[in-house]
Amino acid sequence: MSDGLENVVAAETVMSEVDGQRGVLIIRGRSLDDLAGRTRFEEVARLLFDGFFNDLPDDLTAALGAARAEVFGEVAALDTGLMDRSPIEAMRALTARLADGDDLATALRLTAAPAVFTAAVVRAQAGEAPIAPDPGLTHAADILRMTRGGTPTKAETEALDTYLVTVSDHGLNASTFAARVIASTRAGLTSAVVGGISALKGPLHGGAPGPVIDMLNEIGRPENARQWIEQALARGDRLMGFGHRVYRVRDPRADALKAAVRKLREGSNSQPARVEFAEAVEAAALAILKEHKPDRALDTNVEFYTALLLEALAFPPSAFTCVFAMGRVAGWIAHAREQVAGGRLIRPQSRYVGPAPLKAA
Ligand code: SDX
Repeated sequence: MSDGLENVVAAETVMSEVDGQRGVLIIRGRSLDDLAGRTRFEEVARLLFDGFFNDLPDDLTAALGAARAEVFGEVAALDTGLMDRSPIEAMRALTARLADGDDLATALRLTAAPAVFTAAVVRAQAGEAPIAPDPGLTHAADILRMTRGGTPTKAETEALDTYLVTVSDHGLNASTFAARVIASTRAGLTSAVVGGISALKGPLHGGAPGPVIDMLNEIGRPENARQWIEQALARGDRLMGFGHRVYRVRDPRADALKAAVRKLREGSNSQPARVEFAEAVEAAALAILKEHKPDRALDTNVEFYTALLLEALAFPPSAFTCVFAMGRVAGWIAHAREQVAGGRLIRPQSRYVGPAPLKAA
């Protein structure tokens, strides 16, 4: 049995290839370099959905804008019971209210849901009224507008688009596998997406970027990095933003997102300090991980510079995983449709290692 299904090929997919040895990510035949920083989220969502919905519009921007406006009505269910939950739990609860289905309209509502509900939850938990979507905006621009109010700059919208595109799909990661298992029972897209959100929440998966900010803030200054990291590893803690089940070299998304942070912060006075400090912490972490785990290739993963980028876009760290879901939801839906189109019920075997039944007296 492979612990954690490591290296087990559990599905064939046209969605993405994650080459862990070369550090390469390909999404529907396009390399990450070709997509990140050059494509809007709507375009990569269309790329992922292409061939799996027969009524897919050429331009998803207007259709997704209408879907945002449609799901906003569910925000009224944001009751006091959800106000003291984490943003991802509240966003999950609101998403679970959407009817299940396998059609494009359901898929568009689910693609819109993490964005609309996270914005409403973040504002409500800050004592501010939710902002209704503007269907005329692109998805990334409206996410920033609904979350922060006001009009985002072009650079901010481009930075968020880069992030959403970069994290939109990534092979059979834990949340996408969860979504495929649920889709394989023919439960429906809402069930698959809610399962994906639940798996993404974990700190070993999509729950890592928020704690990266905590780590940077606790370290505070570059000269404190070695001691803080040594103490963390001595406690048996995992360094958030490092290591990966598949990548044995640097996660290519780390550099795509680092470039996006630099571009976003060009000209701002806070950019050099924060990114250079993060680079110093990253260098210390890589050196110390190499000392402590010489036989394990532990490199920077997508979450380290995700944290810096989402911080620069003024998302609260408690909502970073929700923003991850805003991008990854396109991958979950695409994989769910692919599973239904050509896959069987996913049901592996297990080996029983429990006690034998007691012999009858
Ligand atoms: C994502 O799969 C995907 O594609 C996921 C993702 C996606 O796009 O969907 O890329 C997104 O989830 C990125 C990863 C985000 N998580 C983190 O940054 C949390 C910190 N990283 C880890 O906990 C860890 O690296 C995992 C969970 C990501 C991968 O772990 P594995 O492959 O299960 O490896 P392991 O837990 O068996 O660890 C092997 C060894 C262990 O040491 P020993 O017990 O053998 O001595 O490496 C050590 C681990 O302790 N190790 C780390 C470490 N990661 C692994 N030690 C310190 N810090 C770390 N970050």
